[in-house]
Amino acid sequence: MRVLVTGGAGFIGSHSVEALLAEGHEPVVIDDLSTGHARNLTPGVRLIRASILDARALAEAIAGCETVLHLAAIVSVPLSLERPLDCHAVNATGSLQVLEAAHRAGVRRVVQASSAAVYGEVEPPIGEFAPLVPLSPYGLQKRMAEEYGRLYGLHHGLEVISLRYFNVYGPRQDPRSPYSGVLSRFADALARGEPTVIFGDGQQTRDFVFVGDVARANLLALTAPGSFAGEAFNLGAGRAISVLEAHAAIRAAVARESDTARPGGAPAHLPLRHEPARSGDIRHSLARVDAARERLGWQARVPFGEGISRTVHHAIGTPVDPASGTRD
Ligand code: UD1
Repeated sequence: MRVLVTGGAGFIGSHSVEALLAEGHEPVVIDDLSTGHARNLTPGVRLIRASILDARALAEAIAGCETVLHLAAIVSVPLSLERPLDCHAVNATGSLQVLEAAHRAGVRRVVQASSAAVYGEVEPPIGEFAPLVPLSPYGLQKRMAEEYGRLYGLHHGLEVISLRYFNVYGPRQDPRSPYSGVLSRFADALARGEPTVIFGDGQQTRDFVFVGDVARANLLALTAPGSFAGEAFNLGAGRAISVLEAHAAIRAAVARESDTARPGGAPAHLPLRHEPARSGDIRHSLARVDAARERLGWQARVPFGEGISRTVHHAIGTPVDPASGTRD
């Protein structure tokens, strides 16, 4: 199956491209490389370097594709508060462009990345039928993309499945921006022996799900037999972990890993600072994951400890790019 992967050179995208290749599919990637890297892609994968807002490039990329995995987005809650228009353009209008291009190209199924942010502050564990009252422009933009997907099913027969990712982490998540996911920031800083910051008291909890599990869910959603038009599924591990607990787990993994890499070389001093809680942050987040298990046959497999070890291993093993100051 030929699959267009928008944002395929990014964090979740590149893992999804690998999962597609491993099953013998043919991924085609469109990515503007705003946060992704061409080096994330397996050599030989076709990369069209363009934004999803470029209708012509999108039409060219989508030609001949049976399905679309739409991951391209500006993925940050705080950034969507600072730059709502830019984020809206990519996350809402861009998603609409992808749906329109898919409809025109006769695509059968679109699987799109949505987010737990569509729920806002809801009593956990959060099921798919919880009220959708996003607290950030980002959550609202993802909700709009879901609703557009439902309408394309209703009016054009395009089957659109939305996957509501909870907090995805793992190797290749960019740690160097203030908007990066918390675990990649902790792993990178602690691996370098640099200070880490916890916003608020650190007792806030998240449902952290490993990127390899998410890539497998994407593949299942693209290929599952049956019809799922307009449906949305939570993708989480189903376990709440506090930011403080996660910090401790990463610190322990860094100490273990540094000792293996350089005996006696574990960083001696790893300062931790508390700063005020971020505005727009939710307090607790935990997914109910029964629907994905029952309908798609998916559940997270990688335990948190193992996922953390792999993330830390990557952070320690990846040299810093001297030009950009970022890791692979
Ligand atoms: C994350 C995703 C978002 C997704 C949401 C779904 C990222 C960058 N964001 O948002 O796209 O919609 O999950 O659940 O992947 N924190 C610290 N120190 C730091 C960084 C963060 O204490 O250095 C705290 C934050 O204040 C927050 C928690 O860690 O309380 C998680 O933050 P973050 O990783 O940015 O993710 P979410 O805001 O949950």
